[in-house]
Amino acid sequence: MNAVITGASKGIGKAIAEKLALEGFNVAICARNADTLATAKADIQQKNPAVTVLAEVVDMEDKSQVLAFGEKIKSTFSRVDILVNNAGIFVPGSLHEEADGLLEKLMSVNVYSAYHLTRALLPAMIANRKGHIFNMCSTASYGAYPNGGSYSITKYALLGFTKNLRKELIPHNIRVTAVSPGPTLTASWEGFEAAPDRMMPPEDIASVVWSAWTMAKQTVIEEILLRPILGDI
Ligand SMILES: NC(=O)c1ccc[n+]([C@@H]2O[C@H](COP(=O)([O-])OP(=O)(O)OC[C@H]3O[C@@H](n4cnc5c(N)ncnc54)[C@H](OP(=O)(O)O)[C@@H]3O)[C@@H](O)[C@H]2O)c1
Repeated sequence: MNAVITGASKGIGKAIAEKLALEGFNVAICARNADTLATAKADIQQKNPAVTVLAEVVDMEDKSQVLAFGEKIKSTFSRVDILVNNAGIFVPGSLHEEADGLLEKLMSVNVYSAYHLTRALLPAMIANRKGHIFNMCSTASYGAYPNGGSYSITKYALLGFTKNLRKELIPHNIRVTAVSPGPTLTASWEGFEAAPDRMMPPEDIASVVWSAWTMAKQTVIEEILLRPILGDI
């Protein structure tokens, strides 16, 4: 079994890659920073020395790099069973004050990267009539909040993409799941003061991904919405 997790050198993506490796999946991961990626590759490999860990430096903001990553995956793995479109950046701000160009940047990293990589890997998944695509959405995909800014626009868009994909892939026997966490304790929150009990551990997001994958083959969990018990911050 083979899985692809984008943006998996830290945080939620890394937790998912570690879980899937532990469960026996070969994993392909990517990130921009080569040093952090190399450390993540070693950590994931340590979870299960028997699996292959392909780690590529990729900037998911750049379509040509996304497509090259897709080609590398196809030449390394005979098929893709799980694709987790996780890479994303969180920049809080208000629409009327945020920097010019932020919407374009966040759309590229948070939405277009998922669109392009999915399209690159889908033809083989469709031919196999098998596979599961997870898109890392957010509680920001479901409701506006102060300081959501362009980030929230991109997460609404990613949920829209996920819902379209779900409908489109019904006849092809491929599952599509939107995973939408609230505050999760990762580097995304660096610089914010928040009590640890107001944040979820990234391992919980990995657990729900694993649960969704292990359902009966005729079952798909379409949307997963998770929040800390005390609610959003
Ligand atoms: N943490 C939360 O509270 C929370 C809540 C809801 C949704 N989410 C979503 O969950 C996903 C993961 O978030 P996280 O909190 O785990 O973030 P994180 O800890 O900051 O990790 C982000 C990962 O993505 C990589 N990445 C960022 N930009 C990239 C790019 N342009 N190309 C390739 N890789 C890139 C990072 O590595 P490099 O920096 O080296 O590229 C890192 O491996 C995001 O889509 C985020 O929006 C997070």
